[in-house]
Amino acid sequence: MIQPPATTPRPRRRFDWSLACLLGAVLMLACSCSAVGWNWDTPMSTVMPKSDFGKMTHEIFMLISWWTLGIFIVVEVGLAYVCWRFRDRAGAPIPKQVHGHTVLEVGWTIAFAVILLVFAIPTIRVIFKTQEAPAATALRVEVFGKQWWWEFRYPQFKITTANELHLPVGQTATFLLNGPDVIHSFWMPQLGGKRDVVPHRINHITLTPEVPGDYPGQCAEYCGVSHANMRFRVIVHEPADFEKWVKAQQAPPVESTDALAQQGKTIFSQSTCVGCHTITGVSAGHIGPDLTHFASRKRFAGSLMESTPDNIAKWVENPDHMKPGALMPNLGMTGEQGKALAAYLLSLK
Ligand code: CUA
Repeated sequence: MIQPPATTPRPRRRFDWSLACLLGAVLMLACSCSAVGWNWDTPMSTVMPKSDFGKMTHEIFMLISWWTLGIFIVVEVGLAYVCWRFRDRAGAPIPKQVHGHTVLEVGWTIAFAVILLVFAIPTIRVIFKTQEAPAATALRVEVFGKQWWWEFRYPQFKITTANELHLPVGQTATFLLNGPDVIHSFWMPQLGGKRDVVPHRINHITLTPEVPGDYPGQCAEYCGVSHANMRFRVIVHEPADFEKWVKAQQAPPVESTDALAQQGKTIFSQSTCVGCHTITGVSAGHIGPDLTHFASRKRFAGSLMESTPDNIAKWVENPDHMKPGALMPNLGMTGEQGKALAAYLLSLK
């Protein structure tokens, strides 16, 4: 028989201030959330979904969250009970040992396998549903992830744009994800995504936006030094506004006859800009973003900066300074040339 260890007088326990401080901080955080009214509807939030895709993934997230909360409570209460019930007491015998208990081992292996199955079935269903091949009636958008910006093509409308994705509310859209360089990940937190954009193969996302708005998008796979600067905007329109946008994009660019803008056009068309960028009627490059309707877009350079004359001038003077690793070369433009180019680009409605 195992003898209990000889008892020795124990030192008096001191109050643990560090634990008290930690508990206090947690309680205060809980108070501030409920008293101030925690705002979950933030630009990068995934818990206030605005599409069917977002809702489906959110339902799975909540299912897993509630189950894991339940498991956490059961485990912690069980642990607390065992710690209290079998605590070390003077003269108490060692409790009955259950190591290698077959029924317990088999029981909790089966229980957790069943719980994982509860998570797996809806998860697999949503994965398949959201990457179905495009329905004939869906709006098709070809998404190209490039270091470090996004190109969006609408083959049925013959439109190409950059860093701004326009969608009509209530219509199913299918995104065909592709790219020329490295792996990126297409993510619109409030609408869905985080699906890899793999060079030279096509991945799909199918979703229906349900609420009009202006939502941020972000590359979610590390893809080089300016990964964090590879952003985009998603504008979900009412159907009539979407049609207006399509018509405006299909029309030839309207350029200003202002002297500075015309000087900018001359600089553009006589420099190497034309080798990389398309402006309908002026150039036909395909390496960089299509600039035909540059002024219709609020932001540029992977949605990094607002399209203001100052930002554009600074960008063309030294792209790498504004966006580390930018593949657009430094063409040695002066500040004056930059301002003229900005005037021209900002006239291309
Ligand atoms: Cu593209 Cu990260």
